[in-house]
Amino acid sequence: AKADPAKGKVIVDQVCAACHGADGNSVASANPTLAGQHAKYIENQLAAFKKGERKNPIMLGMATPLSADDMRNVAAYFSSQKVKPREAADKSQMALGKKIFTAGNPATKVPACMACHGPAGRGLPDQYPALGSQHAGYVVAQLNAFKAGADRKNQTMADIAMRMSDAEMKAVAEYISGL
Ligand code: HEM
Ligand code: HEM
Repeated sequence: AKADPAKGKVIVDQVCAACHGADGNSVASANPTLAGQHAKYIENQLAAFKKGERKNPIMLGMATPLSADDMRNVAAYFSSQKVKPREAADKSQMALGKKIFTAGNPATKVPACMACHGPAGRGLPDQYPALGSQHAGYVVAQLNAFKAGADRKNQTMADIAMRMSDAEMKAVAEYISGL
C-alpha cells in the first residue's frame, strides 16, 4: 500500500508524540527528533527495533504492535514535518566539531561526516540519515552505541565511532545540533 501520512499522524498523536513531539521535534535530548528524517530510514529503524536488531527497551515496546503499513505511515508523517533549527547549547567546541564534520581527523582516519550526511546534515534519502538539528546528547549516545556494537550494529558507523575520542564525539555532536 502507498504510504498514508494522515494515518501515520493518528498513531503519532496517540503513541509517539509524548516523546518525539506531535510534529516530530522532540524536547528531551534522549528522544531523537524525527521531523524531516528520511522516511525509509525511519521505517528501517522501526523494523530493526521490532526484530530486536537495534536494542532499546522503550522502542521495542513501541515498534512491536506496529504493522509494516503502520511503520510506512508514521515514517511518511514524520518525514513530511519540518525540523526546527536549533542552536548548539555549548559553543565552546564548535571549531573542533566543524573540523570533524567537514574534514574528519586524517591522523586517526576519521572521515568527514559530511561525505555521507551532507554539508548541511540533511543526509541522503534511502541511504544516509539526516543529522542536522538533532539533540547532541542523542548523537553522542548513538556514536557510543555504534562503537560498542551491542545495541546498535552498523559496520560503517562502528568503524568511524571506534576511531573517535570522547572529546571529538561531544564536539561533533554539538556542531550537528546547531546545523
Ligand atoms: C528512537 C519512532 C514512540 C522514545 C526512535 C527512532 C524512531 C522512533 C524511528 C529511531 C530514530 C533515529 O534512529 O534517529 C517512534 C514511533 C513511536 C515512538 C513511530 C510511536 C509509535 C516513542 C515513545 C518514547 C520513545 C512513546 C518514549 C516513551 C525513544 C527513544 C529513542 C527512540 C528513547 C532512542 C532509542 C535509542 O537510543 O536507540 N523512535 N517512537 N519513542 N524513541 Fe521512539
Ligand atoms: C548513522 C554520525 C560519518 C554513514 C549515523 C548516526 C549518527 C551518525 C549519529 C545515527 C543517526 C540517528 O540515529 O538518527 C556520524 C558522524 C560522522 C559520520 C558524527 C563523522 C564523524 C559517516 C560516514 C558515512 C556514514 C562518512 C558513510 C560512509 C552512516 C549510515 C548510517 C549512519 C549508513 C545509518 C546506520 C544505520 O542504519 O543504523 N551517523 N556519521 N556516516 N551513518 Fe554516520
